[in-house]
Amino acid sequence: MADTTPLEIELKDEAATHDLGLRLSALFAVGDLILLRGDLGAGKTTLARAAIQAHLEGHGLMEDVPSPTFTLVQTYESPDLLLTHVDLYRIEEEEELRELGLVEALDEGAVLVEWPERAEGEMARLSSDRLDIRLSLMPDGTRRAELTGTGSWAARLTEAFGPGPDRQAGSD
Ligand SMILES: Nc1ncnc2c1ncn2[C@@H]1O[C@H](COP(=O)(O)OP(=O)(O)O)[C@@H](O)[C@H]1O
Ligand SMILES: [Mg+2]
Repeated sequence: MADTTPLEIELKDEAATHDLGLRLSALFAVGDLILLRGDLGAGKTTLARAAIQAHLEGHGLMEDVPSPTFTLVQTYESPDLLLTHVDLYRIEEEEELRELGLVEALDEGAVLVEWPERAEGEMARLSSDRLDIRLSLMPDGTRRAELTGTGSWAARLTEAFGPGPDRQAGSD
């Protein structure tokens, strides 16, 4: 049976978020849809940036990774993958979403999406290999990430992070 209990990771500071980005970037493959949820300031852009930069640095490439808040979409190319970073906060119509070319982007690489709530139905149709990340700002100023993998991401998460205490139903 598929286990959909999220994997919880405490991010006590920004360095921890960078470390998570690095670990996730090692798992990226063509066709991956990575959805980043959470309030303004929760750390979606910080995590996406860390993952993209870690991937590029792995290929000896260095690039600024600005927030796509205003441009809506930013792309990064390595010999392995095209990485597409989008922010749907300002999307108002389906037509605008189509113009972002996410179907084509998934054919060539991985797509990281901030504010997927703005087009939830479309997101569900885009890819079956999906990583859902929810970031929360905790009262003490730290962040928490909850990761849920769908399709091949379920096994990839377990492989990379271990099963986690509350994902082992029936054991103690
Ligand atoms: N553990 C942490 N992880 C991510 N960001 C953090 C953390 N602690 C503090 N921050 C700060 O919180 C802010 C997160 O902003 P950003 O990544 O743009 O959020 P979002 O894209 O979710 O609106 C940044 O200013 C960052 O420096
Ligand atoms: Mg952002």
